[in-house]
Amino acid sequence: MNVLVTGGSGFIGANLVRLLLVERPGWRVVNLDALTYAGNAENLAELDGHARYRFVRGDICNGELVADVLETERIDAVLHLAAESHVDRSILSPPVFIETNVRGTQVLLEAARELGVRRFVHVSTDEVYGSLGPSGLFTEETPLDPSSPYSASKASSDLLALAYARTFELPVVVTRCSNNYGPYQFPEKLIPLAIANALRDLPLPVYGDGLHVRDWIHVEDHCRGLLAALEKGESGQVYNLGASSERHNLDVVKQVLRLVGKPESLIQHVADRPGHDRRYAIDSTKARTVLGWAPRHRFEEALAATVRWYVERRPWWERIISGEYLAYYEKQYGAG
Ligand code: NAD
Ligand code: DAU
Repeated sequence: MNVLVTGGSGFIGANLVRLLLVERPGWRVVNLDALTYAGNAENLAELDGHARYRFVRGDICNGELVADVLETERIDAVLHLAAESHVDRSILSPPVFIETNVRGTQVLLEAARELGVRRFVHVSTDEVYGSLGPSGLFTEETPLDPSSPYSASKASSDLLALAYARTFELPVVVTRCSNNYGPYQFPEKLIPLAIANALRDLPLPVYGDGLHVRDWIHVEDHCRGLLAALEKGESGQVYNLGASSERHNLDVVKQVLRLVGKPESLIQHVADRPGHDRRYAIDSTKARTVLGWAPRHRFEEALAATVRWYVERRPWWERIISGEYLAYYEKQYGAG
């Protein structure tokens, strides 16, 4: 089986490429990634020369390139992760989110249709459902109600993917996962940002009152869910993935501070994110019953292991935060 992972040099993609090579020794994995600010070749550097792995640097919006990769690599299945993924950046500058997440997805779907790909997993997010009140869970039937340019672009791409299943009978499966954490996450997202700032005694910015709720899942559990969706998902269906680990942002940040032995006085409440969704929580009953999938990691232990990873891999994130990210950080949080 030849599998194309798009966005394999990003956070979830890098974890997924590794998992596929270990768990499916008969598979060949091709990673198509443009290496934007969020893509990092270093994330998979140890795979250089691996007999069942190939990296192609390229943009999913380039139809000719995508068709060429699908054809020459004789791709059977696509796991589509390439995207602009950060909500705050989508508020600062929406256009690239439409280009990559909407148009790029359509380009891929079209090439997959023309070349007869046998399975297309479109990797999406619980953010397409918008915000929950204090109770209730997102199911696959929850109406789409995205709040940010990022989540609106993901909702649009979900609809395109499902339209390709219905109209062209392209075997598409859509997954919608909650907030991931774990190794290789870009330090603009809450958990790695909090760890990196705490380790340098810098303020930890918490938006608004910090009582927003996210439902956390370890990235490896997400990746196992994607593999299950690829192998067992039914075409045209949506599967929610989540680990039932709802936490207030403030509690997550306090836990990070405890784990690195730094004081809570580092917490700094800053202006709220515009359109900030108050609460996410996932009902993953369908994935658990139909795909036979279940998360394996518990939040407290897996967060501690994640913090250890960032402590031990300090050069990895220090290299990242000294580059383009510095300019973004100053724009988002002020020069400090
Ligand atoms: P990320 O930002 O860490 O990585 C995205 C990757 O896509 C990068 O390697 C980047 O170089 C690549 N990319 C961007 N534009 C591209 C283009 N035009 N052509 C080719 N490659 C391009 O993102 P992530 O957190 O790993 O998320 C991966 C996917 O999972 C996204 O589709 C995201 O919407 C979805 N998702 C993320 C989460 C989460 O908590 N991080 C949860 C649910 C779903
Ligand atoms: O729910 C899945 C989504 O999770 C994915 O689709 C996105 O790609 C991913 O980025 C993530 O989106 P969030 O906006 O939830 O993640 P982020 O880490 O940016 O923020 C998590 C929460 O923490 C959110 O309520 C905003 C808050 N936050 C974030 C940052 C970066 C802060 O309070 N301060 C911060 O500095």
